[in-house]
Amino acid sequence: DKRKDIRDDIRDGGEIHQIAGGGRPPMTTSQGAPVSDDQNSLKQGARGPTLMEDFHFREKIFHFDHERIPERVVHARGYGAHGYFETYEPLSDLTSADIFQRGGEKTPAFVRFSTVAGSKGSVDLARDVRGFAVKLYTREGNWDIVGNNIPVFFIQDAIKFPDLVHAVKEAPDRAFPQAQTAHDNFWDFISLMPESMHMVMWIMSDRAIPRSFRFMEGFGVHTFRLVDAAGASRFVKFHWKPRQGLQSVTWPEAVAINGADPDFHRRDLWDAIQSGDYPEWELGMQIFDDAFADRFAFDILDATKIIPEEEVPVRKVGRLVLDRMVDNFFAETEQVAFHTGNIVPGIDFTDDPLLQGRNFSYLDTQLKRLGGPNFTHLPVNAPKCPFHHFQQDGHMAMTNPVSRANYEPNSWPEAEGGPREEPLGFQSVPVEAKGAKQRTRSETFADHYSQARQFYVSQTPTEREHMAAALIFELSKVQRPEIRERLVGHLCHIDDTLADKVAEGLGMALPTPPTPAREPIADLPPSPALSILENGPASFAGRKLGILLTD
Ligand code: HEM
Repeated sequence: DKRKDIRDDIRDGGEIHQIAGGGRPPMTTSQGAPVSDDQNSLKQGARGPTLMEDFHFREKIFHFDHERIPERVVHARGYGAHGYFETYEPLSDLTSADIFQRGGEKTPAFVRFSTVAGSKGSVDLARDVRGFAVKLYTREGNWDIVGNNIPVFFIQDAIKFPDLVHAVKEAPDRAFPQAQTAHDNFWDFISLMPESMHMVMWIMSDRAIPRSFRFMEGFGVHTFRLVDAAGASRFVKFHWKPRQGLQSVTWPEAVAINGADPDFHRRDLWDAIQSGDYPEWELGMQIFDDAFADRFAFDILDATKIIPEEEVPVRKVGRLVLDRMVDNFFAETEQVAFHTGNIVPGIDFTDDPLLQGRNFSYLDTQLKRLGGPNFTHLPVNAPKCPFHHFQQDGHMAMTNPVSRANYEPNSWPEAEGGPREEPLGFQSVPVEAKGAKQRTRSETFADHYSQARQFYVSQTPTEREHMAAALIFELSKVQRPEIRERLVGHLCHIDDTLADKVAEGLGMALPTPPTPAREPIADLPPSPALSILENGPASFAGRKLGILLTD
């Protein structure tokens, strides 16, 4: 009755109040006190000043004022979903990783797809690398495969990462262009870094404008190790192969989609999952030993190189299914913290200098982005297996260890003494390291053009046309001619026809190519696995999306 009177009073006053009742719970402050009026601040008289005493107003505004956290320094724009990984068959002969011990077992997973260069509010169809980060909540801890949709990277050593990212993001004086490669700074840097040429070929290809997240591959990029129960290890490269096939759009389609619907990739994933059309990827492994590594023409620690699937076939070991969107974008997709260092017993790193640097970077940046060291307490980041340690306190500590002892060794009885070491827990492969301490790059990393050429010649004629058009378009935006010349000079080492075409498109003479650090291998065979048109069951590359473009 009292509620009804209030409702009537309010109606008379013409104000909009939505009153609790039925299935609508009462609104409260964050301390739980019921709120009677969320429309008006507390004032001295009807037209008087707002009172300091108005704790509801102050709490509400205070919280709103602090809603933003720093966006990721790279991969700021992303979209995540939950799902599971299903192991096909036990792989105990290769790895002791718990996730690979039982065929048919499902492990919960969270995946975040992203673009790299653009800010949080940028468009989905930028010409860019896509992040493909997977968190597997295994029974022996969280294992993150923090990968991309392109199997190689721009740089060989993590010390160049800040330079790369500065160059690719908006210029510091004018703050444009955003989320585009059409950029003097980007091409200036790239043209001075021959090691980036292989990745540049991928970025200028249709791979860099996927039709949606559902139609792209994922790669762990680095070489990792699989370690079996006896401690023996083999090298491994991780691949995610989309069951939907591999599809891209053309550049004119990407431009039109960005204008019509900058959230195209988000909407696509949301619609697919909400309608029960769950996307799937198979996890593939390229497994090889030291003997292969020694005879392979490139260094397996060099992240600018692939291992062709024709040389080491991809073995399918399980499938990833995304079947549930997040309940809350910020809580899950924004706060999820992937880290290359999150590995589990049975998996190990290699000495790839890019991977080694990443293993430092992720925790460091997340400490700042997520406001302290306790982001593992957030549900999306917490392991789903039992965990016990003595890490305590810090901002927002929610799951402090509960025992009498918070140190070890200790002599407290079992109930109070807390966890103990597990000798069968994670152990690093005892790889021998030797050599003088030095800032250097191995000579085995010096061939920058052979695989760039191999990628280009593996493309169909249509895809090659797209690459030449992309290079002409991008470089035509570059103001300084010497940057264009330097870049086309590198193309001369990759493919003569491509270099000619791009030089002609830019209306410039063919420049003198730079002296390569190492002569490219002349006869590297094409790899059919690298072409989208040859690879996907129904590729859109080179065709119109129809639904969006009319001519
Ligand atoms: C974020 C992949 C190289 C530093 C990311 C994300 C992905 C990714 C997928 C987004 C994670 C998410 O969705 O939250 C890669 C790949 C690389 C690479 C595949 C090369 C093979 C590097 C290097 C560094 C680095 C060399 C630094 C030395 C970062 C940082 C973030 C990030 C700081 C933001 C993380 C956060 O705020 O949570 N990377 N990355 N990355 N990456 Fe990388």
